[in-house]
Amino acid sequence: MLSTTIKEATKEAHQQLEKKVVQKLKAIRSNQDYADLLRYFYAYFSHLEKVIAPFITIDILPDYAQRRNSSFLKSDIEALGGDINNLPETSVPEINNVIQALGALYVMEGSIMGGSIIVQMLAKGGITEGVSFFSGYGPATGQMWGTFISVLNAIAANDEEEAIAVHTANDTFNHFAAVFAETEQPING
Ligand code: HEM
Repeated sequence: MLSTTIKEATKEAHQQLEKKVVQKLKAIRSNQDYADLLRYFYAYFSHLEKVIAPFITIDILPDYAQRRNSSFLKSDIEALGGDINNLPETSVPEINNVIQALGALYVMEGSIMGGSIIVQMLAKGGITEGVSFFSGYGPATGQMWGTFISVLNAIAANDEEEAIAVHTANDTFNHFAAVFAETEQPING
């Protein structure tokens, strides 16, 4: 089943990204620092949403409009006193069909799974505002994930199509990690 394959095949990419995000979370000392981190999430997620939108139709995923999206990030950033001007540069995987679009959406929807851990980490550092994005669907999280996974599993008709979804999901993790990597470059000159 695609849901099993994709989880296993993206394990390493998830770990790499998780490591980067945890590092950034640990460095947060103020609402402003947190808003700065959310700007990376916003830049990437809003870019990705734009490229998958033509393929995630109401027939494919009927509850897409009810799902958490980058507008939650915008609200959180603004609640923290930040804004979405001059966002970091982002690049996204190539999305040309519904299978690739769902592979990318797997990464965005799956990020809700780690959300509650992130909210707890932030609370330990005294950050309690602007957490709507990471709070995900609250108690409905399991059910929303179940619905998404059944759509994902129904879309790939054969191994070749599964491989396409897996490839895009890995690319989606890696492109996000690259957005953060840019901030780690030493400033020259
Ligand atoms: C501090 C950062 C993060 C932590 C601690 C974290 C932790 C977790 C945990 C505990 C799970 C659930 C594993 C399970 O129940 O089997 C999970 C699943 C997942 N996370 Fe993360 N995560 C983090 C960041 C992210 C980010 C930034 C993304 C993507 C943008 C992401 C994408 C996913 C996906 C796609 C899954 C679903 C795996 C599956 O069941 O198929 N995570 N994460």
